[in-house]
Amino acid sequence: MTVERSIGEGASVAAILLGWYDDHARVLPWRTAPGSGGRADPYRVWLSEIMLQQTTVTAVAPHFARFVDRWPDVAALAAAADSDVMAAWAGLGYYARARNLIACARTICEVHGGVFPDTEAGLRALPGIGDYTAAAVAAIAFDRRAVVVDANVERVAARLFAIVEPLPKAKRAIRAAVDAMTPSARAGDFAQAMMDLGASVCTVRAPQCDRCPLSGHCEAYQRDIAESLPVKPAKRARPLRHGWAHWVVRDGQVMLVRRAGRGMLGGMRALPGGEWTDALAELPQGGRDSGIAVQHVFTHFALQLHVATLAPESPCLAGAEAEWWPLADIGDAGLPTLYAKAVRAMMAGTQMEGT
Ligand code: ADE
Repeated sequence: MTVERSIGEGASVAAILLGWYDDHARVLPWRTAPGSGGRADPYRVWLSEIMLQQTTVTAVAPHFARFVDRWPDVAALAAAADSDVMAAWAGLGYYARARNLIACARTICEVHGGVFPDTEAGLRALPGIGDYTAAAVAAIAFDRRAVVVDANVERVAARLFAIVEPLPKAKRAIRAAVDAMTPSARAGDFAQAMMDLGASVCTVRAPQCDRCPLSGHCEAYQRDIAESLPVKPAKRARPLRHGWAHWVVRDGQVMLVRRAGRGMLGGMRALPGGEWTDALAELPQGGRDSGIAVQHVFTHFALQLHVATLAPESPCLAGAEAEWWPLADIGDAGLPTLYAKAVRAMMAGTQMEGT
């Protein structure tokens, strides 16, 4: 089945999929029931879509619940202190998303009177909203016809149309295929149906084609190549970097700093420390190697963070804008996972291997 030949089939694929979604939609806190005609709250849809970029539904759910409980609408979020939002984001990773979230909420309040734009183009102009998020929010919250392609949708489409070209080159054909299938009515439900099918049936490994409502339309199933699609580009090896974190404790409190700017973990609370480099730098002056190191994997590199204990008056700490945080309440500091791991390991006093 070529994309061109199947365009006429798009309508029936959409109808079958929407029927399946009516019975099998996951119940998620930012959704309305399929076909209920109830409009999802744009604030909740936007927040969930930003959180779900690069992060699983399971990891997002508790963060989402805490956010909407604390900041129930865009005006409340716009009025929040940056440090509170960054701390509430801790653990979700990709912290530029949280910085953009704050900027976006404030732009909506200051420029748009607290009302979300209801078109893809209007949404696309907001901070942190790219093509995917604009399409998803326009479709899910405003029932606009928009072509929504995330990794789940990409996989389902690549298999339905047996697009064997490797990613990322295949993206153009995949988008055309999704465009051809997207209905003008219920485009938001259609997008979420594709996502749910990808998450629960058309999975990366061991797809359950015998349970799939679209197997009769699926070229990859007919050719028995579903699991091999989409073809991923060869993985590049992740380099390993090293850095020192400084463990400075006084009266049951640990020294924390705020990482600067827009770089890695920018704006987040952290242990003080040095640069992250290809080879481990010398022990910081006056420091003692604790023997504890933790590993954390970022998108483009892995980091081995070694922990050095230092006295509060060590010269290398002079001038640091420090906060002293009670170790007993360290769970409330909103530390990103890297530093939360290091603190846990230091508090346990044991080397954590392979974490
Ligand atoms: N992933 C991204 N957006 C989603 C949504 N609306 N529902 C389920 N999974 C998603």
